[in-house]
Amino acid sequence: MAMNTTSSGFGGRVCLVMVVIISIQGTVVQLGGVVAADAGDHDHLLLQKQQQLKDNNIVYSLYVLGDSTLDVGNNNYLNGKDVFRANRPYYGVDYYPSFFVPTGRFSNGFNVADYISKKLGKGNSPPAYLSLVGSLSNYTLVSTALIVGVNFASGGAGILDSTNVGQCIPLSTQMRYMESTRAAMAARVGNRRVTDLFARSFFLLGVGNNDMFGYVTNPTPPDVAAFYAALIGNYSDAITGLYRMGARKFGVINVGLVGCVPLMRLHSPTPGDCNDGLNRLAAGFNEALAALLAGLADRLPGFAYSVADSYGFAEDAFADPAASGYTSVDTACCGRGRLGAEGECEPGCTLCTNRNQVAFFDRVHPSQRGCKLSADAYYDGPAQYTKPINFEQLASARSSALPRATA
Ligand SMILES: *[C@@H]1O[C@H](CO)[C@@H](O)[C@H](O)[C@H]1NC(C)=O
Ligand SMILES: *[C@@H]1O[C@H](CO)[C@@H](O)[C@H](O)[C@H]1NC(C)=O
Repeated sequence: MAMNTTSSGFGGRVCLVMVVIISIQGTVVQLGGVVAADAGDHDHLLLQKQQQLKDNNIVYSLYVLGDSTLDVGNNNYLNGKDVFRANRPYYGVDYYPSFFVPTGRFSNGFNVADYISKKLGKGNSPPAYLSLVGSLSNYTLVSTALIVGVNFASGGAGILDSTNVGQCIPLSTQMRYMESTRAAMAARVGNRRVTDLFARSFFLLGVGNNDMFGYVTNPTPPDVAAFYAALIGNYSDAITGLYRMGARKFGVINVGLVGCVPLMRLHSPTPGDCNDGLNRLAAGFNEALAALLAGLADRLPGFAYSVADSYGFAEDAFADPAASGYTSVDTACCGRGRLGAEGECEPGCTLCTNRNQVAFFDRVHPSQRGCKLSADAYYDGPAQYTKPINFEQLASARSSALPRATA
């Protein structure tokens, strides 16, 4: 009985889907600067793209995993009142060209994922996974994943599942989404082509900041070495998981100068100053992360990476604010009270007008300008901000160990 009901319901849905697909036949959809056509043309389009890009060693697609520094709207689709959200004013107040568009980015405009994507010669960041999934039996998800990539990042996410539980999509769940997306891609164009596509794509990762914040209020495990070991073990699992899926080029942004965000300054032992203890916690993690990546590169054939020093970049920028054109590096532009850090960025709060001169947009997140400056540094900036190569070199790296195109 139950089976009969299910299958007749499914039949009805298939008809509906077919009608919709027919109505978009011939329509060409602009996706992040790359053209996606309908399913019939899709294989051809992908082949053509691979042909064009092969000799130039240009990255094909961009896949993003991480936290609010990279989220482009996944959290808009989560339920629950405690979910971290940026889908209200004054987020997006400078989102060009429309302005006043709160997309879910934790910024007054674009974020680091957008700027890295632009640097890679594409449009803004690929769309948020949850904005794609489910539509037309995942048709949109698979097409987008093949042509431009997908962004799985989620505000509040940590390396540990226990970080901000129930308020975000933790790294382990982002990995599951990546895996099922890959399976759907392989079902469409075949496993070998996805393997080739992944090897020539850029995997941008930025996570760990929220695990540091979490440790301030709940230092578990109390032994810092054990805390690092759990973080590094789990991060290693995620990165090797991506490698096993075919990923070869990893752009990894380390944990930032988390003790200097306005919220942490407000609650630091000397209010107004950076929380040095928290910064030391982050610096220790970053050392372990650098060692992890170097170790993976030794062990895994074809594994290429660039670790971007978000921490060191902020340290230098905050030591000489004027050099970056900043008039403020300690106060949230959008917020309330002391340091703009006593309240959230939300309608009715204070919003500064000199948004190109502030390091922080809200009490935790960098301004659009801060995002652009750091993305510029990671991509092709001064050598001290990336190791062992910069993002541009990673993107164009010709690796003999990359699997050969077989299609
Ligand atoms: C869409 O993809 C997600 C995973 O990416 C999967 O969980 C879901 O079952 C898929 N839905 C359909 C209709 O294929
Ligand atoms: C992370 O590491 C800890 C300790 O090793 C473990 O208990 C936990 O299940 C791991 N996974 C995640 C996703 O947090």
